[in-house]
Amino acid sequence: MSLDLLKQKIENLRIDLNNHNYNYYILDKQLISDFQYDEMMSRLNELENKYPQFYDPNSPTQRVGGKVLDNFKTVNHSVPMLSLENTYNENDLLNFNDRVLKKIKKKKNNYVCELKYDGVAISITYINGLLVQALTRGDGLSGDDVTENIKTIKSVPLKLIGNFPKKLEVRGEIFIDKKSFEKINSDRSRQREILKQGLEKELLNVVNKDDITKINKKYSSKLNKLEPFSNPRNFASGSIKLLDPVKVSARNLSCIFYYVNLPDNYFKNHYEAIVSARNWGFQISQFVQISNSIEEVFEFTKKIEKVRNSLPFEIDGVVIKVNSFSDQLILGNTSKSPRWAISYKFKSTQAETILKDIIYQVGRTGAITPVAFLEPVFLSGSTIRRASLHNDSFIKSLGLKIGDTVIIEKGGDVIPKVVSVDFSKRDLLCRDIKRIEFCPSCKTKLIKPKNEVNLYCVNSMSCRPQIINKIEHFISRDALDISSIGSKTVEMLYDEGKINNVGDLYKLKLSDLINLNGFGSESNSYKKAQNIIDGINNSKSKSFDKLIFGLGIRYVGKTVAKKLSLKFENIVNLKNANFNSLIETDEIGEKIANSVLNFFRDEHNIRLINSLSNSGLNFALDNDSKNKSNKLNNLTFVISGTFTFSREQLANIIEQNDGKLSSSISKNTDYLIEGNKAGPKKIEKANLLGVKIITETKFLSLLND
Ligand code: IVH
Repeated sequence: MSLDLLKQKIENLRIDLNNHNYNYYILDKQLISDFQYDEMMSRLNELENKYPQFYDPNSPTQRVGGKVLDNFKTVNHSVPMLSLENTYNENDLLNFNDRVLKKIKKKKNNYVCELKYDGVAISITYINGLLVQALTRGDGLSGDDVTENIKTIKSVPLKLIGNFPKKLEVRGEIFIDKKSFEKINSDRSRQREILKQGLEKELLNVVNKDDITKINKKYSSKLNKLEPFSNPRNFASGSIKLLDPVKVSARNLSCIFYYVNLPDNYFKNHYEAIVSARNWGFQISQFVQISNSIEEVFEFTKKIEKVRNSLPFEIDGVVIKVNSFSDQLILGNTSKSPRWAISYKFKSTQAETILKDIIYQVGRTGAITPVAFLEPVFLSGSTIRRASLHNDSFIKSLGLKIGDTVIIEKGGDVIPKVVSVDFSKRDLLCRDIKRIEFCPSCKTKLIKPKNEVNLYCVNSMSCRPQIINKIEHFISRDALDISSIGSKTVEMLYDEGKINNVGDLYKLKLSDLINLNGFGSESNSYKKAQNIIDGINNSKSKSFDKLIFGLGIRYVGKTVAKKLSLKFENIVNLKNANFNSLIETDEIGEKIANSVLNFFRDEHNIRLINSLSNSGLNFALDNDSKNKSNKLNNLTFVISGTFTFSREQLANIIEQNDGKLSSSISKNTDYLIEGNKAGPKKIEKANLLGVKIITETKFLSLLND
């Protein structure tokens, strides 16, 4: 083959690989298998090694490589990297809006709202579409040259595509997603465990006393290197400062871009710039939104605060930017931050405190959950004394000891959790956590079923917390919804021997309730007792799926209960279902199928179902539910505009047919149903994300297919 042809072949491979990279990391599309990708990469590697005259520092093969450095070069930023002014409440945002409007002499303004990614800032320069330099923020005026490290990050394009400017500087945030971070920490803790076992083994075989110190020393430096990382941000900033790019490439970092420094007059506004950057190959968040007023900005901040915990990466707020570049110019900068942008930080949801002890709770299934007992600490509006620790392996992966300083976090739910340990504050008084062997309530020996992370107490018939929690689950909102009975009443009724399982609820008489402690005066207590009896009687008409959910079969949540009720229609069919018919049911796999089979094998459960059935509970699908279908199963819809049906009616149709209705468009949306006067922003976003747009008629035809 001629050299020209070879050069062309190499170039084509590079283009194809870059293209696959762009599709995979930026557009979330995998066009070829991992195997095919690796094959192409090794073919390119081979050719490049054989013909070094065609070397290209931006070839896809050059991501993992680079020399180990002694230190980083310091380089001046072409434009200083400023920080952002922080605000914490809507009033501050109103003031920001007033300041902006006054200066640009307008009554209204367009803002671009973005997420505030919680990682480490990076500035990357491209010349003729090739990545030439990546700098950290440093002191804002100059930063470290970390080009080789940044080139290892797969979502950073080495070569741009499309119609890009000749010289371009982009800024973004380097971060690690939550899942990868957890995996890295749990891998480390597993490696620590193996090392510790090795240490114990070696110590057992020691003959000479001096060897003990030697062995301990050998292991302690290795063990220290495997301490878990404290949080994703520190992990990201530590990673890009590693001197060996090969190590950086193993760290699963990502980069998302939020700022483009362009030649004058290239674009009119920030939104245009950021959307174009996506077309040049940069990863841009799907949450970038134009807001036409400060009120719309508030809507965005509220929406994001709600979804914050379900995002795959950490954010600590929202950034609001004046959209128009000419207005940005009028507003200018202070010495520290631009006047055209501001960050709205979410109230701190993390706090630091001391782990005083661990207590173990017993759930309704007998699962034992460790709970952290903390030095009380104030966090987002309340004093926290306890936090969840999930299970023993979670404690291990944190590397936790009693007495440690821990970081706790309030997520979307009310129960705070321990997220990390501040190892720099660990002292000699910290104690190892002993493994629990017996049920903290009934003292039965605990067991650990295969493939499960939790320990279990199997004494389901007479372990107090298990019984009480089962009853509380049965009366909870998503199950039989008997809200007139509180937790205290359940405990009292159980302790006084009036109820021992959920079937007993339906045998309660007024006289069992009236004399309970704390029911108040005679007339009050009568009213309260009657209320409870009414609530219990009303629950008899609750639907079959709620009843299945209420039974508390392990792994059978609300959705699975619904699927089971639709497929089997009554309790006799469900009880007689075999493994095959169970796993044929949508969303039901082996684990759930086995759990259902086990449940119906237990004679206590059969007796309970008979007792409930005799009390008049509804163990069959009602006719109304039979009209339901799962034709829209797994499909997510967004509706915009007005239709012949009302919004509620459309929402009902979607739900009845097992679809999901969402208020905003994301890449998970399947269809946007476009009505009269549908919002142009929704349509634009749907087009941007490739979401199908359909009419009401087309939507209804989906139900007839
Ligand atoms: S814009 C000149 N947008 O926040 C304006 N910054 O406190 C430059 N950050 O150092 C910043 N998400 O690392 C901007 N969507 C976003 C951001 C963002 C995170 C970080 C960035 C910066 C820091 C400022």
